[in-house]
Amino acid sequence: MSTRRLAQRQPESFTFSPDNLAWAQGQIGKFPEGRQASAVIPLLWRAQEQEGWLSRPAIEEVAKMLDMPFIRALEVATFYFMFKLSPVGSVAHIELCGTTPCMLCGSEALVEVAKRKINTKPFELSPDGKFSWEEVECLGACSNAPMIQIGSDYFEDLTPESFEALLEALARGEQPTPGPQNGRFASEPLGGLTSLTEGEKKHAANASVELASGAAEAPRAISGGAPGFEKRG
Ligand code: FES
Repeated sequence: MSTRRLAQRQPESFTFSPDNLAWAQGQIGKFPEGRQASAVIPLLWRAQEQEGWLSRPAIEEVAKMLDMPFIRALEVATFYFMFKLSPVGSVAHIELCGTTPCMLCGSEALVEVAKRKINTKPFELSPDGKFSWEEVECLGACSNAPMIQIGSDYFEDLTPESFEALLEALARGEQPTPGPQNGRFASEPLGGLTSLTEGEKKHAANASVELASGAAEAPRAISGGAPGFEKRG
């Protein structure tokens, strides 16, 4: 596991957009006087959602807003793997699960696709700057292995062919439907249900796919066009 360091090339500055600044101030206001540092994770996360990754100026700005030493905010940013410390693809950052169930079901072949289609090295941008990738630990969707995550969406039951087609669709500006990519509804047997078969099927897609595609009633932040995150800016 490599040491997590800040990117060598950094932007000059970071400023929250007016909307994000108002949201951040709301978060800070939730904590009692003197405890503002408790808002460090949500503010860092919102900074990352705005820019796609977490730059040094963004961490400095968050530390300043929370009246905490830069080193304390840096400790948080470098500890959690969800914080991306170098620029990610402008269309998608692929988090590819490489833990045992996914590996046994073919994740190594997906890594080969990522190396060929994006960059031979993780965390490096593709030549057109649209994509980046990394290998991550179990994302909790082992019954739909192998799988990847882009932003808050899971793409499951992948093959090298379907993963490659997914990358090509994203590069064309399309928004592929997340969820199982082999026709499964969720994680039922591929050959169909063998128990609990009676009852009407009320939904065309499982709940996470409905949420991602906007079919569900619950509101969801707009995804897409963002560097692997739900862009908020
Ligand atoms: S091992 Fe890949 S999701 Fe669990």
